[in-house]
Amino acid sequence: MPDNIAATLLDWYDLNARDLPWRARPGANATDPYRVWLSEVMLQQTQVATVIPYFEKFTARWPDFAALAAEEDAEVMSAWAGLGYYARARNMLACAREVARLGAIPDTEAELLRLPGVGGYTAAAVAAIAFGRRAVVVDGNVERVVSRLFALSDPLPGAKPQIRALTDSITPDARAGDFAQAMMDLGATICTARSPRCLLCPLRSACAAFAGGAPETFPVKTKK
Ligand code: ADE
Repeated sequence: MPDNIAATLLDWYDLNARDLPWRARPGANATDPYRVWLSEVMLQQTQVATVIPYFEKFTARWPDFAALAAEEDAEVMSAWAGLGYYARARNMLACAREVARLGAIPDTEAELLRLPGVGGYTAAAVAAIAFGRRAVVVDGNVERVVSRLFALSDPLPGAKPQIRALTDSITPDARAGDFAQAMMDLGATICTARSPRCLLCPLRSACAAFAGGAPETFPVKTKK
């Protein structure tokens, strides 16, 4: 079954992947680690639609780590204005300078984790998407998809370790980066929080929450 979930989802992704500027485009390599890193940093607390114009602006102005690293702080901070969370921008710049000093961005999750502003999510996403490594990538979309697939009764945030283990169990050895992005696209476009569009979902027949008849009740959350 886990093999089946990944294969089914990847087939869906091949036909339905969102056209996002950090993915394949003429003249832009989808797995350029700079573009992957920059997009994932920008997407940490910000919606895809908001990030797109900033990503286009940054990559046009600073096409690689060296260019960004060499820029004045004030120029980068003002280009970031509107994305919010300025600590993220400062860490991003510190990270670009560290990568420029190293000569290249590291290609393993463990080394990526040591960079400024790179947490567990970003390290896994960059390792998988830019370097094709098998990494377990869990963001809010993935949490929702997985908690529905397995109809997890334990509430968030306590269920996070279990969700991580289940995500690990369905992550394929090959195409882990595409798999991660497919899970995010599925969560953003079909397995949405309020009114999931289950009839369009490629994983419907594997989904325990769909079988139970109330997919929108997952993930269960601890009352505040
Ligand atoms: N959210 C964060 N990273 C993403 C990605 N690579 N594709 C789609 N949504 C995302």
